[in-house]
Amino acid sequence: MKNVTIFDHPLIKHKISLLRDKSTGTKDFRTLVEEITVLMGYEALRDLPLEDCEVETPICKTVQPMVSGKKLAVVPILRAGLGMVGGILTLVPSAKVGHIGMYRDEETHIPHEYYCKLPENIGERLIIVCDPMLATGGSAVDAVNLIKDRGGKNIKFMSIIAAPEGLKKLSEAHPDIEIYCGNLDERLNENAYIVPGLGDAGDRIFGTK
Ligand code: PRP
Ligand code: URA
Repeated sequence: MKNVTIFDHPLIKHKISLLRDKSTGTKDFRTLVEEITVLMGYEALRDLPLEDCEVETPICKTVQPMVSGKKLAVVPILRAGLGMVGGILTLVPSAKVGHIGMYRDEETHIPHEYYCKLPENIGERLIIVCDPMLATGGSAVDAVNLIKDRGGKNIKFMSIIAAPEGLKKLSEAHPDIEIYCGNLDERLNENAYIVPGLGDAGDRIFGTK
């Protein structure tokens, strides 16, 4: 798949292994999700647009490239995607933040949208959609559809763990977006949970259950 990056950096691998550990508690889980997002984001933001800005050094005035945070929108898929927002904001503090609320029906695993609020001028921004888990891919495909319906064009999707089924579905439904995954796991189980995965990302980030 041409538009997919799977990371092989040892720090990302190490931190994902810690995330998987069921004895990792909420506080460490949140910290790890944010740290992994920073490491992945460094690569995913490689083509962030720059603009020329005047800077005065102790020696002289000069025009130098700076990132314009106004041109970036980070859009977490609620709830678990919220855990990744701080990681992107560490890299680009002035980025705008949108939110898409989705939950998967426990029986059918079909996603349902309950909220969508995006920054204005969405069509002019680079949009980073975040969700730690790409399982069946239903939530990610629907979230990108919502963003495109509202004019979003330049879209990247970041997940920490992906299942082959979800990655294929997202890549086929939206061949124009870049997809970044911290790891590609083995498969989905009968409840559409990723194996080996890390369990329910939202519950582990927020300490519910
Ligand atoms: C989880 C996860 C993704 C979705 C992935 O959210 O955070 O959004 O499932 O599954 P899919 O690829 O099969 O659609 P969930 O619906 O459990 O909601 P939550 O984050 O509020 O717990
Ligand atoms: N959502 C999760 O949080 N975990 C999975 O393994 C699949 C979907």
